[in-house]
Amino acid sequence: MRIRGTTRLVGLLGWPVAHSRSPQMHNAAFAALGLDWVYVPLPVAPPDLEAAIRGLRAMGFLGANVTVPHKTAVIPYLDEISPLARAIGAVNTLRVVEGRWVGENTDVEGFRQALAETGLSARGQAVVVLGAGGAARSVLAALAMEEAREIFLINRSYERAVRLIAELSETFPPAGLRLPPVHVLRPEEPPPEGVALLINTTPVGMAPEIEASPWPPERPFPWGLQGVIDLIYEPPQTRLMALAEEAGIPAFNGLGMLLHQGARAFTLWTGQEAPLEVMRAALLEDV
Ligand SMILES: NC(=O)c1ccc[n+]([C@@H]2O[C@H](COP(=O)([O-])OP(=O)(O)OC[C@H]3O[C@@H](n4cnc5c(N)ncnc54)[C@H](OP(=O)(O)O)[C@@H]3O)[C@@H](O)[C@H]2O)c1
Repeated sequence: MRIRGTTRLVGLLGWPVAHSRSPQMHNAAFAALGLDWVYVPLPVAPPDLEAAIRGLRAMGFLGANVTVPHKTAVIPYLDEISPLARAIGAVNTLRVVEGRWVGENTDVEGFRQALAETGLSARGQAVVVLGAGGAARSVLAALAMEEAREIFLINRSYERAVRLIAELSETFPPAGLRLPPVHVLRPEEPPPEGVALLINTTPVGMAPEIEASPWPPERPFPWGLQGVIDLIYEPPQTRLMALAEEAGIPAFNGLGMLLHQGARAFTLWTGQEAPLEVMRAALLEDV
């Protein structure tokens, strides 16, 4: 990679960002298409977020990704928010359109693309979602777009899940999204049989706590379950995925979502089709 006076800048705002694979994914894509762009990690502590956004503007950045813990906090510092990002209450991609900083959400489309790649479908199906944090918001929007039949939402904190659904029921309709019926369950309540998909949006099982499972290991999976998707990608096979596979249920990690949200952001910035296979290979590389 050669950095010149003309090199265009994008980056990743988060805290921390050192573990992120997005720089390797995007820089490989820029190199593959011969684009004079660079993607840099931008560790920004929460109190510095507003100053960081002003800094990006001042330094002529052309966009950024936004990750934990800034996805919601960044909204007041932008000139415009896409209807989808507004409905979800989370921005993961910033781009500059005629000098205005616009907040977008590519996680939703990233999840939908990743789901399609697995060969599984949520259409007309009952789906279990574990977790009610930031990632769950995007997954719920994706399930609304996929026209899932109903959702069983299980979260450690029951009240937070109830609040989330009340909030999304208000914010989805203005963006044209219709939330399927959602049943909020407590962790000790098993979902009913006949659920087709189980999606983990909690960090439970993420390295280094790789023995942990967000689904009680002794509890059988619902009868008829067709697939498990874990948004975690480190380790590549989580305990939850291993439990599913032992029960003969296909399981997929979160690399697909990471890849496809990145590909969409890449296209928003550069206007070019993202080199998906280059990006996928870069994500799988050890750094
Ligand atoms: N693959 C991708 O592209 C992608 C994209 C986004 C996120 N992710 C992954 O998704 C995960 C969640 O991210 P997030 O932004 O949604 O986080 P978040 O906003 O902090 O939400 C975390 C959720 O997990 C629950 N949780 C946390 N620790 C738990 C524990 N020990 N036991 C039971 N439940 C627990 C929380 O429950 P309470 O409400 O009770 O606190 C909350 O519902 C992370 O692993 C992240 O890496 C992946």
